[in-house]
Amino acid sequence: MDNRTPLIAGNWKMHKTSSEAVETAGQLVKLVADTLDVDIMIAPVFTALDPVAKVVKNSRVGLGAQNLHWEKEGAYTGEISAAMLVSAGCQYVIIGHSERRQFFNETDETVNKRIRAAINAQLIPVFCVGETEAERNSGQTFSVLDKQVKKGLEGHLADDLATLVIAYEPVWAIGTGKTATRDQAQDVHQYIRSLVETDFGVALAKAVRILYGGSVKPDNVTQLMQMPDIDGALVGGASLDAESFSRIVKFK
Ligand code: PGA
Repeated sequence: MDNRTPLIAGNWKMHKTSSEAVETAGQLVKLVADTLDVDIMIAPVFTALDPVAKVVKNSRVGLGAQNLHWEKEGAYTGEISAAMLVSAGCQYVIIGHSERRQFFNETDETVNKRIRAAINAQLIPVFCVGETEAERNSGQTFSVLDKQVKKGLEGHLADDLATLVIAYEPVWAIGTGKTATRDQAQDVHQYIRSLVETDFGVALAKAVRILYGGSVKPDNVTQLMQMPDIDGALVGGASLDAESFSRIVKFK
């Protein structure tokens, strides 16, 4: 794996009140206290970030948000800035999740601006890409990814992208129980790494962590993680329960 530390990230989506999030985070902190050589992140809803930050402080668990706006502040009702996430205790931010693209008109251009804002605030961007079922069935998987990766990262410098994480999440595998086979995922991960190499050079291509997301569970994570270009997982449903997520964290 070229010495990339695996990252297991939990995307809690629009689940859990603050007190529920604090409870799950507290359980997780205990369950993963003895883990080594793996980075762990959970992304609760915005209102739970501050209380959860207090629970995960000085633990193995990092904190992420599920989105951010690219402007520093202003008249953008309902949005949140990178500095606000940092002040709430975040180290990571998920950007361009397919649910944002599908339901909230997120585009490659806005994803690009959000990545820039995250980097400027020293947040680690978890940049999501992935094809729909129709795109896969019509043989467009690689061209869709090519466009998403290129446009999302266009104009950035390799040095700025040093902490970048990319999450490959085939839309047809999210929340459906249909996981990509490890060979399907590996093929795409290798392709994404080659795109990074072409545009940003071999050093960044070797350093960038590429997570797989889409129905990752305790019983399929181990085989996915054996593939050379799969550096971690972005987990939705199975991250909501601390015990199940901790089993994914301990995939070895
Ligand atoms: P899932 O979601 O694990 O529930 O399929 C993954 C994601 O959307 O990040």
